[in-house]
Amino acid sequence: MQIFPRSLNMLPAIVAVGGALLGGVVVGGLWYYGTPKHLQVGYAPRQPVPYSHRLHAGVMGMDCRYCHANVERSGEAMIPPTQTCMNCHSLVRTDSARLAPVRASWQSGNPIPWVRIHRLPDHAYFDHSVHVSAGVGCVSCHGRIDQMDVVRQDQSLSMSWCLDCHRNPGPNLRPRDQVTNMDWRPDPAQPVQPARSVQPPTNCSGCHR
Ligand code: HEC
Ligand code: HEC
Ligand code: HEC
Ligand code: HEC
Ligand code: HEC
Repeated sequence: MQIFPRSLNMLPAIVAVGGALLGGVVVGGLWYYGTPKHLQVGYAPRQPVPYSHRLHAGVMGMDCRYCHANVERSGEAMIPPTQTCMNCHSLVRTDSARLAPVRASWQSGNPIPWVRIHRLPDHAYFDHSVHVSAGVGCVSCHGRIDQMDVVRQDQSLSMSWCLDCHRNPGPNLRPRDQVTNMDWRPDPAQPVQPARSVQPPTNCSGCHR
């Protein structure tokens, strides 16, 4: 006597195939929706003002810290307020159409809606000041910003990328006063003396707190 109808013989196969399809859709969906655009190398969104790092940091040679003033002191590097731009642009190019949104922000008091490029997921902890004070240069993580008219993400910012350096930070360390110098190259004759003893975390709780 048959307890289950014959048609149920196919059930395990249907479940297996259906499960595989569903699994594929779920993984694909997580991958598609779960990977934020801003964690992709090359992500370079259009900004509300055509501000150029190549002009200001490259040609004019402004130090990164003039605008990203918090980078040595706190976790966040900070995007400069409109006031920082107006230090010069209340005198320079005052009738430029490209600067109209800057003047509008200055008059209204509303910040310029810059589009964020680099952002880690909330479950990963990152602090700029620790890295900069250990002697890791901006260029190691952001590339040649001083040559970019539009900022684009240069490195993957993935977990394995963080760990590659944490396991062997030595080649990425430079003298403390060269952290913003995009042209600095190590001199084989003069090995870098680390600013302090440096031990980046490789245990999970170091970055997932
Ligand atoms: C005159 C001010 C100024 C200077 C100098 C400056 N920046 Fe910026 N930076 C900005 C502004 C404004 C933005 C936001 C708009 C954009 O992304 O272009 C920005 C964005 C960035 C971003 C992307 C932030 C994000 O959204 O993820 C990085 C990285 C960066 N700057 C690094 C640097 C480095 C490195 C230097 C020095 C070589 C530097 N900046 C010099 C004003 C400045
Ligand atoms: C230290 C002075 C200084 C600061 C601070 C500064 N700029 Fe400039 N900026 C200049 C100069 C000088 C030029 C013009 C260069 C030239 O004549 O080609 C310029 C050009 C520009 C232009 C191109 C204007 C045009 O008509 O082509 C834009 C856009 C601009 N800056 C945006 C900004 C923004 C946004 C900030 C703030 C994050 C800022 N600047 C901060 C000095 C400065
Ligand atoms: C060890 C790698 C590393 C170094 C060195 C580094 N950054 Fe970053 N930067 C990042 C990461 C990762 C983010 C995204 C942080 C987040 O989402 O919490 C970021 C974000 C930023 C942002 C966006 C705003 C913010 O504060 O998060 C700016 C601006 C910036 N960096 C500028 C700089 C400048 C200027 C320097 C050099 C003085 C520098 N960075 C050095 C990895 C680095
Ligand atoms: C180019 C090298 C380099 C890269 C890339 C890098 N780090 Fe680090 N990290 C260091 C160094 C050097 C230190 C300093 C260790 C010390 O002070 O002993 C450090 C320290 C840290 C610390 C411990 C300090 C603290 O704030 O508690 C954390 C957390 C950290 N890094 C997170 C990250 C994350 C997350 C990423 C990737 C998004 C990353 N790092 C990418 C070199 C790097
Ligand atoms: C040096 C910093 C660092 C250390 C150490 C670290 N992680 Fe991560 N981890 C990250 C960063 C940054 C991300 C986000 C990267 C991304 O979204 O691409 C991440 C993402 C993850 C994710 C989410 C993966 C995803 O696709 O979103 C998991 C799970 C994870 N880490 C587990 C671990 C475990 C387990 C350990 C210990 C064996 C560990 N991490 C150690 C930095 C670190």
